[in-house]
Amino acid sequence: MRDVPYDRPRQLDAILADAERAGFTMSCEDRTGSLLATLAASKPGGRFVELGTGVGAEAVWLTAGMDSAARLTTVELDPRVQGIARQHLGGDPRIDFVTCDADTWLTEAAQAGGRYDFAYVDCRPGKYLRLDDLLQLLAPGALYVVDDMLPQATWPDDHQPRVDGFFERLPSVANLRATRLVWASGLVLGARV
Ligand SMILES: C[S@@+](CC[C@H](N)C(=O)[O-])C[C@H]1O[C@@H](n2cnc3c(N)ncnc32)[C@H](O)[C@@H]1O
Repeated sequence: MRDVPYDRPRQLDAILADAERAGFTMSCEDRTGSLLATLAASKPGGRFVELGTGVGAEAVWLTAGMDSAARLTTVELDPRVQGIARQHLGGDPRIDFVTCDADTWLTEAAQAGGRYDFAYVDCRPGKYLRLDDLLQLLAPGALYVVDDMLPQATWPDDHQPRVDGFFERLPSVANLRATRLVWASGLVLGARV
């Protein structure tokens, strides 16, 4: 059995080529993308949020799994890297690109009464910071996914204690049923209860 995805999105190679030219090395790996596309297909008409767009590698996988009624809000601090995602995926009417700090977005989404069916959190807010606030935005049964929980070459020296703290806290998060996956970059897959 090989777990290499057999259905890579058409635009992915072009996105990754632009990422390489821009020196962006933090895109999700294909196996993670494929898993999230599969999970996305379980939420027809769902409202999705990604915190940390990067250049759009995961966004293209998510939209590959989403149906035509589903919507993705993807939030990124750095307009330069998100510009690559906009360039490749800006024509997809299901995607709303937001350029701001995810910390600000969490506050504004709560004020707006946002309700989401799927959250992929790929930056500190919503994962190492303000996890409770992110979970408050999720509908019962919504999925919560984070990756890069196994040591990564891109981690700063002080990052491991953050990861350890997340894992220590996880069992006490009452409104999340979660499983740790020592697979790909290391994932936590949770469901809002
Ligand atoms: C691991 S990369 C995202 C990769 C992308 N999700 C993927 O899987 O292809 C993390 C991204 O989060 C962005 N980021 C970091 N801190 C942020 C914050 N506070 N708010 C929004 N984006 C942030 C970084 O600029 C970076 O592009």
